[in-house]
Amino acid sequence: MKRTPKTYHVKSFGCQMNVYDGERMAELMAADGMVATDDAGAADLVVLNTCHIREKATEKVYSDIGRIRKTQGEAGRAAPMIAVAGCVAQAEGAEIVRRAKVDVVVGPQAYHNLPRLVADAAAGTPALDTDMPLASKFGQLPARRRVGPSSFLTVQEGCDKFCTYCVVPYTRGAEVSRPFAAIVDEAKALVDAGAREITLLGQNVNAWTDGERDLGALIRVLDRIPGLARIRYTTSHPNDMTQGLIDAHRDVESLMPFLHLPVQAGDDRVLRAMNRSHTRDSYLRLIDRIRAARPDIALSGDFIVGFPGETEAEFAATLSLVDAVGYAQAFSFKYSPRPGTPAADMAGQVAAEVMDDRLRRLQAALNRDQQRFNAATVGARCDVLIERRGKLPGQMLGKSPWLQSVHLTASAAIGDIVTVQIAHAGPNSLGGIVTAGLAA
Ligand code: SAH
Ligand code: SF4
Ligand code: F3S
Repeated sequence: MKRTPKTYHVKSFGCQMNVYDGERMAELMAADGMVATDDAGAADLVVLNTCHIREKATEKVYSDIGRIRKTQGEAGRAAPMIAVAGCVAQAEGAEIVRRAKVDVVVGPQAYHNLPRLVADAAAGTPALDTDMPLASKFGQLPARRRVGPSSFLTVQEGCDKFCTYCVVPYTRGAEVSRPFAAIVDEAKALVDAGAREITLLGQNVNAWTDGERDLGALIRVLDRIPGLARIRYTTSHPNDMTQGLIDAHRDVESLMPFLHLPVQAGDDRVLRAMNRSHTRDSYLRLIDRIRAARPDIALSGDFIVGFPGETEAEFAATLSLVDAVGYAQAFSFKYSPRPGTPAADMAGQVAAEVMDDRLRRLQAALNRDQQRFNAATVGARCDVLIERRGKLPGQMLGKSPWLQSVHLTASAAIGDIVTVQIAHAGPNSLGGIVTAGLAA
C-alpha cells in the first residue's frame, strides 16, 4: 500500500506537444487537490513525461527513475510514486513496470485518467493505461490556469505519414484534428490566463482541418481574438502546406514570419527510402512559394544524417540543400534505429564515426547560416515579446518575430511587447535597444 500523494512534480522531455501535455497533467493533479513542487526529489508523485524519438531519449527515462529513487532514499524520505507518461509509456507499456517497478504507466492519449490511475496505484496495484480511445481526452481536462506570455495549444495530434525511421505514428496514433470551436475557446481562455502569443501544436500541425477549414483559415479566426498579439505553429509537413496557409503568411499580421519545415535529407533516393513523399525539388519549390508570400520569413528544419544506405554523395546533397535554403535555425540528428520501424531492419546501417563526421559538417553549415541570419537583422527594428528576466540586473529576455532570443535592458514587464532596434548579434541570441515604449 502506497501513500496517497499530496505533492507532485511533472518533468517533460521531447517535443513541445509533451510540454503542453505536461501542463495539462499538472492542471489535472492540481484539480485533484495535489500541490505542485519544483523539486522532484521532494515530491510524493513524480510524473516523467517521456520521449521515444531516439534511443538516448528512451534510455534517459530509466536513468532518471534511478536518480529520483536514490535522491529520495538519501534524504530518508518515503519512496515516491513514479508515473511514466508520454511516448515511452505508449511504446513500452507493461515492460516499464517490469523493468523499473514504476507505479503508473499512462500513454499520451489516456492521461486524462491519471488521477484515477494514481488512486489505483495508491491502493496497491501498478496501474497501466495505454488506450487510444475514440473520444478525445481534451473534453475531459480541467480549465486552463494561469499561463506565461507565450503559450502552447495542441490543435492536432498523431501522424499518418509513417516515415520509415520514426516512432511517432505508433506512439501518438493516427492524425486527429481537434474541433474548431474547442480550439477557439481554449485560445480565448489562454489569452484570459495571460497569453499574448499562442503556438499551435501538432505532430503535423498543418494537416489540421475540420473538414471545411484549413490551418490558414483557423489562424485568420484566431487573429481576431482581442489581446492575442502573436500566432505561431509547429511542426509542419511539407506535403500539408496548403495555399491557404501560405496566403495567411502574406495577409495575417499576427502570424509570425517563422516556419519550421523539416526536410530530413537532400537526396531523392534517401527521401524515398525515408518515405517522406516529397522530393528535394518539390521542397525547394515550396520554399520559393512561401518566400514569395512572406519574403522575410525565417525558415527552420530538421535533418537526419546517416540514414541506412546514405552515401557520401547523398549526404553532400543535404549540404547543398542547406546552402540553397539558408536556414535561420535548425535541428540535426544522427539516425537512431527504433524498434519496430522499417528502417531499423534496412541494410547499410551507417557506422557511428561516419555519422559523427557528417553531423559535425552539417552543423557547421547550419551554424554558419544561423549566424548569418542573425547578423542580417542588426540595425533592424522589430517588436519583441518580453518572456522573462535575464541573468543581469535590469536585463529582460524576449523573442523577435523571427523567433530569435533578444536581450535588452528596459523597465518593461513580462508580457509587454516593445519596439527594439537590434544592436548586435551572436550565434544564439541578439542584443537590442528599446526605441519606442510599448507597442499595442
Ligand atoms: N512531426 C514532426 C516531428 C517528428 S520528431 C516532423 O515530422 O517533423 C522530430 C524530428 O526528430 C524529426 O523531424 C526527425 O528529424 C527526428 N527523428 C525522428 N526519428 C528519428 C530517428 N529514428 N533518428 C534520428 N532522428 C529522428
Ligand atoms: Fe515522424 Fe514523419 Fe510523422 Fe514527422 S511526418 S512525425 S517524422 S512519421
Ligand atoms: Fe518524442 Fe513523442 Fe514528441 S517520441 S518528439 S515526445 S511525439
